[in-house]
Amino acid sequence: MPTVQEIQRASPEEPLTMLTAYDAPTAAIVDAAGIDVILVGDSMGNAVLGYDSTLPVTMDEVVSHTAAVARAADEALVVGDMPFLSYGTSAETGIENAGRLLKEAGANAVKIESGPHTVELTDRLVDLGIPVMAHLGLTPQRRNQIGGYARQGTTEEAAAEIRDLAAKHEAAGAFSLVLEHVPDELAAEVTAELDIPVIGIGAGPETDGQVLVLTDVLGLSESVPPFAEEFGDVRTEMEDAVAAYRAAVEDGSFP
Ligand code: KIV
Repeated sequence: MPTVQEIQRASPEEPLTMLTAYDAPTAAIVDAAGIDVILVGDSMGNAVLGYDSTLPVTMDEVVSHTAAVARAADEALVVGDMPFLSYGTSAETGIENAGRLLKEAGANAVKIESGPHTVELTDRLVDLGIPVMAHLGLTPQRRNQIGGYARQGTTEEAAAEIRDLAAKHEAAGAFSLVLEHVPDELAAEVTAELDIPVIGIGAGPETDGQVLVLTDVLGLSESVPPFAEEFGDVRTEMEDAVAAYRAAVEDGSFP
């Protein structure tokens, strides 16, 4: 398994690969494919739990899915995502919940949708031995405040704030940064400015690595964000298999 230190030292010549997974069978496939980092993202809300956003996802749900992934992953670094309001209300809440992901679920690190309010928390968690992956740019937990899922960092002021927060989270000890849905040039600048690896999603080709949501990659999601890519058509495979089963039972050819 790559350690947090190895991820931190990743070289730009060999881009880091990160994918989400939410259950044991898919985590085993992602792990066996040699993906460096498996993120048990709060994207599970839309991807597998049937919610229409990530906001309803609970800490218990993330713990349970992270544990399933951690049991199946032998090689990849497993990162558990901190859901909406599992941190930020008090330092104690954030520490306890991040601790659950390592103690109960077997994650190797946590990811936190970051902002000015998470710099101190990042510092505390790292002090306590909980590695933190920061997340800037589009942070979907703020959808009500930012009015949806639009590209972030598009004005000079907003770009400067992202660069500043990226530097502050690196200084606080974050071992990597996810940068979501920002202009390519901004992502390239942040990547050049930081020593820790920047893992992009909708952030262009100049970051140190890429992350996507597994159901998008598989072609299983009902809708896919503009910056994602489907690398398969698993939905059609599943539809065909289920239809074939039904037909076989109905026409008596199975069993
Ligand atoms: O929850 C998630 O899956 C994420 C990735 C899209 C980075 O935050």
